[in-house]
Amino acid sequence: MTARGRVVLGVGGGIAAYKACEVLRGLTESGHDVRVVPTEAALRFVGAATFEALSGHPVDTGVFTRVPEVQHVRVGQEADLVLVVPATADLLARAAHGLADDLLTSTLLTARCPVAFVPAMHTEMWEHPATRDNVALLRSRGAVVTEPDAGRLTGADTGRGRLADPREIVDLARLLLARPGALPRDLEGLRVVVSAGGTREPLDPVRYLGNRSSGKQGYALARVAAQRGAEVTLVAAHTVDLPAPAGADLVPVSTAEQLRRAVSEAAVDADVVVMAAAVADFRPATAAEHKIKKTADGAAPVVELERNPDVLAELVERRRAGQVLVGFAAETGDEHGDVLHHGRAKLKRKGCDLLVLNAVTEGGAFEGDDNTGWLLSSDGLERPIPPGRKSALATAVWDAVADVVRGRRERQ
Ligand code: CTP
Repeated sequence: MTARGRVVLGVGGGIAAYKACEVLRGLTESGHDVRVVPTEAALRFVGAATFEALSGHPVDTGVFTRVPEVQHVRVGQEADLVLVVPATADLLARAAHGLADDLLTSTLLTARCPVAFVPAMHTEMWEHPATRDNVALLRSRGAVVTEPDAGRLTGADTGRGRLADPREIVDLARLLLARPGALPRDLEGLRVVVSAGGTREPLDPVRYLGNRSSGKQGYALARVAAQRGAEVTLVAAHTVDLPAPAGADLVPVSTAEQLRRAVSEAAVDADVVVMAAAVADFRPATAAEHKIKKTADGAAPVVELERNPDVLAELVERRRAGQVLVGFAAETGDEHGDVLHHGRAKLKRKGCDLLVLNAVTEGGAFEGDDNTGWLLSSDGLERPIPPGRKSALATAVWDAVADVVRGRRERQ
């Protein structure tokens, strides 16, 4: 076994099978040993040679090849993760009913590791009661079945049913390999709002005051919440190029004021709001109507700033009963105290239930894929979050949120 885990990549017979090649590439590039097990129908879309060349392993579809190796049992038994991309309506049905008429379905029955299905099909098929029941059955048995994306389908049609972005699927695989129990359906029935990215405050039509937030942490929070069953609204200010989390409702904004409006509106009936966005505290008092020009006397313009509203403070003020509010803080230590000291003070000042504290001096919190810090709660919990992928930090946040929600329900 390689240190990074053995993945069986099952490929179903749908047009999105070509995107499985990108997932395969992403997994092998991050050091995973990947064995591709397509269905016969998948090979009508992508040739076995492509999967063999990209994975470095032979590709079989049936149970009657390499019989002495007892492949139909061993492939599943030896896997650390079985990931099915794309999971078609037919494949979900066969898996739900325990059929084992080819190598992939046999593998699904013998696997004792996490199994994840990433569906892609036409909207009608996804919404059909048969598929709904099959998905519910698979989820009730512990399999992860992600929500498909909405957007362009095979032809000119659009709707829900599109395969999640391959980068998201690679991240899902890495999360399940690192934390096999990371995606329970414990957020089902919860409405959550996540803000992400960095706001931009215009100076003139071409310039703005902005910040270094990439949006990656907020997107990971939204993605993991959707994968755990929540209904997610993602209010996104400017981010680097990120795939929209499948299953989340994306609301793009630019300025702090726009973010405030979008978050407050979505928060009205939300159970949880996570403020991961870097909201500008100040904005230019006036945005020039025309581009600000240099003047002949060499003087630089003086920009007057005014305060932006504190969105999190407003949410705390208007919090509906039982609503869980989560803030973020990136701090550096100074002569008054260390990072934890400032985090504790901010948690009190802000009045939220949970605060994710990042130490800026340790780097990585902004553009990178990794993050670390502490999780502080108003009940006095102080839990270090070990260094890891932003989706691992998102998992720790949702674990803590689920604990708070559970505690409140029990007390009711
Ligand atoms: N936040 C917000 N509205 C603002 C500024 C920040 O809702 N105008 C939220 C952020 O999304 C984050 C939390 O408040 O969840 C903490 O942000 P931070 O900038 O660290 O807090 P400030 O109160 O601005 O503290 P500081 O004085 O240290 O800048």
